[in-house]
Amino acid sequence: MNKKLWSGRFTKKTNEALDEFNSSILFDVRLYKQDIDGSIAHTKGLMKQNIISADDGELIISGLKNIMKEIESGNFEFNVSSEDIHMNIEKNLIDKIGDAGKKMHTGRSRNDQVALDTHMYVKNACDDIVDNLKKLCSVLFDIADDNLDTIMPGFTHMQKAQPITLAFHMMAYFEMFKRDIDRFLYSKKNADVMPLGAGALSSTTFPLDRLYVSSLLSFSNITQNAMDAVSDRDYVLDFIYSSSVCMMHLSRFCEEIITWASNEYSFIELDDEYSTGSSIMPQKKNPDAAELIRGKTGRIYGDLIALLTTMKGLPLAYNKDMQEDKKALFDAHDTIVACITIFTAMIKTASFNKENMQKSAKNGYTNATDAADYLVNKSVPFRKAHEIIGMLVKLCIEKKCSLDELSLNEYKNIYFGFEKDIYNAIDILNCVKKRKIIGGCSPDTVNAHIKNARDYIAYL
Ligand code: ARG
Repeated sequence: MNKKLWSGRFTKKTNEALDEFNSSILFDVRLYKQDIDGSIAHTKGLMKQNIISADDGELIISGLKNIMKEIESGNFEFNVSSEDIHMNIEKNLIDKIGDAGKKMHTGRSRNDQVALDTHMYVKNACDDIVDNLKKLCSVLFDIADDNLDTIMPGFTHMQKAQPITLAFHMMAYFEMFKRDIDRFLYSKKNADVMPLGAGALSSTTFPLDRLYVSSLLSFSNITQNAMDAVSDRDYVLDFIYSSSVCMMHLSRFCEEIITWASNEYSFIELDDEYSTGSSIMPQKKNPDAAELIRGKTGRIYGDLIALLTTMKGLPLAYNKDMQEDKKALFDAHDTIVACITIFTAMIKTASFNKENMQKSAKNGYTNATDAADYLVNKSVPFRKAHEIIGMLVKLCIEKKCSLDELSLNEYKNIYFGFEKDIYNAIDILNCVKKRKIIGGCSPDTVNAHIKNARDYIAYL
C-alpha cells in the first residue's frame, strides 16, 4: 500500500476521489527544482547546527540530487496520492535512502516549504519577464531609430489631433514597458525574503541558522514573523498585478496594431508569418496574434481577481485554499511570457506604411494648433488665435482643402496678421520638429530619449 507520510493517526485510507481533489502534483510539479534546492539548503542548515549528522546530511543531499536527475530525465514516478511535489520528493527520498531520509523534514513544515518554493519561483519568473521585456524594448528602439521623422497622426478621442512620429509613438510604449520592468523588479524584491524557519506557523524549537540558509539560496532577507511568512501571498499578488498592468499595455498596443492593420488605416502590414487567414474569405489576412494577446489579458486579470478572492477570507495562518495560488501564478507567468514573445516577433517583422501615415497626418488639420501658435508668436492671445484658426478650418472644410492649400489672401481675409511664413509654420514636418522640449516629439528629442532608454536597459 502507498502509505502517506502523515498516516500515523488515521485508521482508514483516503477516499480516492479526495486524493485526486486534494492533490496539486499535476501543477506544482513545476516547483521541483526550487523544492530540491530548498531541501538541500535546509539539510545543510540542519547539518551546520548539528541537528542531523553529517553522514545523514550527505545521504539526503545525494539522494535529492539523484531525484533531480530522475525528474529531469523523465524517470521519476509522480504519484497523486503523495499529494504534492514536496511529499512526492520526500517519499521517494525515504524509499531511496531509508531512515536518513526521514530526518530531512526536521524543523520544517510543508507550509514554510511551499512558501519558500513559491518565493523562489516568483523571483525567477520576474527575471524571466524582465529579460523578455528588455528584448521587446530593443525592438522598439530599432523601429524608433528608423522612424525618427516618419510622420503620422497622433490621436485623442480617436480623432486626428496633432502630427507626431512613429518613433515617438514607439517610445511612448517604451515608457510603459519601462514602468513594467520597474514593477517586476519591485515584485522580485518583495519575493526576495526567505520564509524557511517559519515551520507550520510558529517557527521551530530547533536552533536553525536562518541567515545561513538564506544566503545558500541567495535571498537578501528573511521573514520576521512566522505566522505571516506561511500565510502571506502578497508577493504572488504583486507578480500577477505587475503581469496584469503589463498585459494591459500590450493589449493597448495590440488594439492599435489591429486598427493600423485594417484596410481603412493601412499603416502597418504584418508579416505573413505572424498573420492568419480566414477559412471562408480568401482575401483575408487577420491579426490573430494581436487579438489573442488582447484576449488573454482578460485571463491574467482573472488570475489576479481569483487569488485576491481566495485570500480575502483566510484566517491566519496557512489554509489549504492557498494551494490555488499556484494555478493563477503559473497561468499568469506562462501567458505573459508567450504574449511578450509573440508580440516582439510580430512587431519586429511588421512593415510600416510610411506614406499612408504621412498622408493621414496631412489631412485632418493636425497642424491647426501650430497655426494658432504662429499667431501667438505674433502677439495674438491664444484664445483669440484659436478662434481665428477655427474659422480657417471651417473655410477649409467648405472648400474641401487643407490649411496649407489656402492662399495667403484667404488667410489675410480672416486675419490681417498672416504672412508668407505661415506655410513654413504649418509644414507638417516642421510641426513635429518644433516640439523640442524634453518629452516632445521632435526627432532630436526622441533621438536623445532613445539613447537614454538604450542605456537604461543596458545597465539594468
Ligand atoms: N500543496 C500545498 C500547497 O500548495 C502544500 C502545503 C500543504 N500544507 C498543509 N499543511 N497541508 O499549498
